[in-house]
Amino acid sequence: MTSRRRFLKIVGSSALIIAGGVGGFALTRTPTDALAPWARAGSADYTDPRVRALSYAILSPNPHNRQPWQVDLGEADTAILSCDLDRLLPHTDPFERQILIGLGCFLDMLRMAAAQDGRSVEIAPFPDGAPDHHLDTRAIARIRFGAPGSATADPLFAQVLKRRSLKEPYDTSRPIPVSAFEQIASVVPANVAVDFSGEPAKRDMLRDLTWQAHLVEVTTHRTNMESVDLMRIGKAEINANPDGIDIGGTAFLDALALAGVLTREQLADPNSVGFKQGLDMYHALMHSAMGHLWLHTKGNSRFDQLNAGAAWLRVNMKATELGLGIHPLSQSLQEYEEMKPLYQEVHEKLLGTSGEDNSGARIQMLGRLGYGPTIRPGPRWPVETRIHS
Ligand SMILES: Cc1cc2nc3c(=O)[nH]c(=O)nc-3n(C[C@H](O)[C@H](O)[C@H](O)COP(=O)(O)O)c2cc1C
Repeated sequence: MTSRRRFLKIVGSSALIIAGGVGGFALTRTPTDALAPWARAGSADYTDPRVRALSYAILSPNPHNRQPWQVDLGEADTAILSCDLDRLLPHTDPFERQILIGLGCFLDMLRMAAAQDGRSVEIAPFPDGAPDHHLDTRAIARIRFGAPGSATADPLFAQVLKRRSLKEPYDTSRPIPVSAFEQIASVVPANVAVDFSGEPAKRDMLRDLTWQAHLVEVTTHRTNMESVDLMRIGKAEINANPDGIDIGGTAFLDALALAGVLTREQLADPNSVGFKQGLDMYHALMHSAMGHLWLHTKGNSRFDQLNAGAAWLRVNMKATELGLGIHPLSQSLQEYEEMKPLYQEVHEKLLGTSGEDNSGARIQMLGRLGYGPTIRPGPRWPVETRIHS
């Protein structure tokens, strides 16, 4: 029996377990605790306007859902954002470029949430100086909250609870109109450049390039293990650690975990059935891209990275407003030895440069787009756990 057929047989028996509804199994899989911050966002219980705004900011996209933000509220009307240095991704993000992009998403979400409440925020990035090769304990930003009535709402905020990184297959019979790409590009601030393509030849090239980059990541032991170690498989693990890569929390996937197909051991072993099934799944995802969008900056300073985060958040919110799914595919942009050929290729093909020089143009984000299903939000740590006074 081939591995695939063996896998399908196991899947089949899992499906029977589900169909049998053993102990209400199918009904109880949603990791409710891990999703609670989405329901609590903006709650009237948060009487401090800073905490109200932060309760939305923690819903921002961020790499591997590490949620590296920590906030000090010790000073009145002020929030000091710093990076939790225990939440870095040293193998796939050796210079913490992506971590900083996630913190840039956080800052712009905070700005939008405060504006929704009528308050402006003054954001001073790196008030004690910008870090060089590595992030350190210095503040990422100092945020001063303005008085009530000092800001007007941002229309994109309406998407805050609907926004997702949509890691699902897209409808390959539904092209993306150029006007949709243009509307998305229109929300990107001037300090970040945006390009997109839904043109078939370029789309096919990027489908293949992003797939090749995925293969490099998962077949390089240390970079694959960085993801495997952060996997939360099934409801109990997701609730216990509402961060990282959540797999399961649906009856089907939790049944696979119970059947022993979906385990960290399988996903760490390139010869296992589970690993190969994961490859098939990712191949289908990459090849259902109906277009791609990339953000780039003239250099690669820490300010550029924060700005790219704000831009990505806005792109993600606008795509949501237009009913489009968007999925960041960062592998080819990552700065480690094994990825170098694809890193250079993606920079050459999309920007006409090598991307090697920090003072040269640099792709900060690349994502695939298309029309996809509606999915539940991702897990989050409660806002209270990220605040220090
Ligand atoms: C800088 C950055 C890089 C990311 N890279 C990837 C990626 O390569 N692959 C992926 O599936 N998701 C990627 N994501 C999406 C995160 O996994 C996602 O934001 C996180 O899991 C939280 O989920 P949510 O955005 O649906 O709330 C990236 C997000 C950011 C901000």
